[in-house]
Amino acid sequence: TDTANADLAALIRTIPDFPKPGIQFRDITTLLLNAEGLAATIDRLATMHGGPFDLVAGIEARGFIFGAAVAQRLGTGLLLIRKNGKLPGRTVGVDYALEYGEDRIEMHADAVVPGCRVLLVDDLIATGGTALAAIRLLRKAGAMVGGAGFVIDLPDLGGVAKIEAEGVPVGALVAFD
Ligand code: PRP
Ligand code: HPA
Repeated sequence: TDTANADLAALIRTIPDFPKPGIQFRDITTLLLNAEGLAATIDRLATMHGGPFDLVAGIEARGFIFGAAVAQRLGTGLLLIRKNGKLPGRTVGVDYALEYGEDRIEMHADAVVPGCRVLLVDDLIATGGTALAAIRLLRKAGAMVGGAGFVIDLPDLGGVAKIEAEGVPVGALVAFD
């Protein structure tokens, strides 16, 4: 497949007023359905940062899809960063603020060896709150976050700048106003 020329932006569908009025929802299910688009997405996420990486970390839920494929492509394992209460073993967690209220993400405490270099992957960065919490979580567990890669950036919401301020190299494949 011709991954070099795939137009990823054209494969992402926009659904107006989901999940609430005024939100233009960027829907990656149409990108996932397209063989060339999916292959190009994984290729580009896997190669945007220098590496080498010891592990890829994916953020629930859509980050798992891309994270798993990137890990396989890089020849690493996959670390799951999950919403509160989903992981069965001993966990380490980070609380973070949402627009309304709070949330918590967790990972298994024994998932990383100290100093392990991790590539963080998610489908989309908006405010950056989730990715920032994930970076804090990985660091709390002893990992080094060597890069963060997203399929979609919503630059108006300022997330990339927040992650860069943490000293983590960031890349995104597509930006939408
Ligand atoms: C979405 C997206 C990111 C996060 C980005 O996840 O997949 O994880 O929001 O927003 P932020 O940069 O403002 O933190 P969502 O909470 O919809 O979870 P899901 O993937 O489980 O549907
Ligand atoms: N699409 C998918 N997930 C999101 C979006 C979006 O537009 N905004 C915040 N999370």
